[in-house]
Amino acid sequence: MLNYGHRGFSGRYPENTMAAFCKALEAGADGVELDVQLTRDGEMVVIHDERVDRTTDGTGFVRDFSLAEIRQLDASYQFKEAGQVHRIPSFEEYCEWAAEQPAGTNIELKNGVYDYPDLEHKVLGLIRKYHLEQKVIISSFNHYSVKRMQSLAPDLVYGLLEESWVYSPGAYAEGLGVQCYHPYWGSLSDAVVADLKAHHLRINTFTVNTEEAARDMLQKGIDIVIGNFPDMVTRVLKGEA
Ligand code: G3P
Ligand code: MG
Repeated sequence: MLNYGHRGFSGRYPENTMAAFCKALEAGADGVELDVQLTRDGEMVVIHDERVDRTTDGTGFVRDFSLAEIRQLDASYQFKEAGQVHRIPSFEEYCEWAAEQPAGTNIELKNGVYDYPDLEHKVLGLIRKYHLEQKVIISSFNHYSVKRMQSLAPDLVYGLLEESWVYSPGAYAEGLGVQCYHPYWGSLSDAVVADLKAHHLRINTFTVNTEEAARDMLQKGIDIVIGNFPDMVTRVLKGEA
């Protein structure tokens, strides 16, 4: 079972910042998950919410900021003890760093609310530029977007994100021709796991934040757990928790 930091090591560091990504790997993560959206001027940025309000000292929608404007915001304002200002990374800044790391990246196209035009094409451009093809999994709650990107780049690995308890997810995901299914961990009953495995799906699940849940996922043979505390998952994998 692989251990991916959800928005980096977001349980202890400002989510979706370069600091959180670095700290996840230091905590033993095999990779990180991040969220990509577009600014007003069509630039890719790494941030989860459609608005900047929760995670930064600014207010408004990501899509209403230019890249230069959004880079002025403090993405670590809730973490003042860190004593440093952390910016919202551009996706290119992330890719440049990731190219130098052995770690994997689950790139979540955060287009479940706003279906950002051309997001798939833009993300693919940086994956190619930084030769990240073997290191990434592309996922989205927007399954139309997953299929669009798959048609642009059939060589990449894709996963369908799902928070609902979809009935017979194996047949659905296999029918869409993706390799992975990314469900909410609590929906992974033995029957659902068996269904997904019978359809040869890799199971990458979120957001696994307790030792009990991590041990359960390990016992069920899940491929990747995505969680806010990669240090905790590291301990579980070592049999120390
Ligand atoms: O990709 C796993 C997880 O990040 C999906 O939910 O809302 O945290 O992006 P969310
Ligand atoms: Mg996400």
